[in-house]
Amino acid sequence: MNEKKKDYLASLKTWGKEVEEKMEGVKLDGKDSEEWKKQLSDWKSLLNDLLEEKDEPTDEKIALVEEKSTKLFHLIKYLLENPRQSQGAILPGQHILPDLPYAYDTLEPYISERIMRLHHDRHHQSYVDGLNKAETELYTKQSDNKLIKHWMREQAFNGSGHFLHSLFWENMSPRGGGRPSGELMRQIEKDFGSFAAFKALFSNAAESVEGVGWAALVWELRSGRLAIQTIEKHQMFSLWDVIPLLVLDVWEHAYYLQYENKRVDYVKNWWNIVNWQSVSQRLKEAKKVNVPYV
Ligand SMILES: [Fe+2]
Repeated sequence: MNEKKKDYLASLKTWGKEVEEKMEGVKLDGKDSEEWKKQLSDWKSLLNDLLEEKDEPTDEKIALVEEKSTKLFHLIKYLLENPRQSQGAILPGQHILPDLPYAYDTLEPYISERIMRLHHDRHHQSYVDGLNKAETELYTKQSDNKLIKHWMREQAFNGSGHFLHSLFWENMSPRGGGRPSGELMRQIEKDFGSFAAFKALFSNAAESVEGVGWAALVWELRSGRLAIQTIEKHQMFSLWDVIPLLVLDVWEHAYYLQYENKRVDYVKNWWNIVNWQSVSQRLKEAKKVNVPYV
């Protein structure tokens, strides 16, 4: 074979290997992943055939390899730049406990390390386990119809427990506290009159929860304004069709070891660790949802 053509085909082969190595660590949606692997494999076998051919490869065959490599290059470029929304979708029963975004002891003195360890490692983990079990029964095993009501209740309780706790950890920060700024502050002032009025209403709502539950600042999609809603347990009396922005866990496991029955003190101190950046980011994203969105 003409040396020039041989060198050219060999350089294409090296390029293919580099692409394959580079793509190994990239997580793509299943279909996209199959697509580029199929194109790469077709292209590789065509290239190998040409390299092994005794006769001189025709210009048409070289052009075909070239065309396929250009197509492959553009496909990979497109996939890397436009990952599908479904990327990272969590399959039923596959939830995992998220790590805390800070160390266990960094919210002290407002929330003790002992509470954070128990709260995150034991309580939150149990909601993750409970949700995975309920989802497996409902979607994977499709178990006895008579038990649907039970598993639906388990899914709601543990699912809400898992999602709310995941948000709660993000809603706090060792560098938190103070007052929000920018768009979030303007929205709070518009909808509640002042930051002080919002804080008082949120705190009073948290203190009013009977037994166990949450206080939440939410974005009401349809009315285009902020609202406050309490949640009993994790899922009862929930306000639907809203996006929660800021949540406060007022279950006893969140404060009893440190504050005993003085929930008022816990709520008062909690404001020192609110992560306003997380709330602002969520408000920004929530406002992008257009209504009606179904
Ligand atoms: Fe909790």
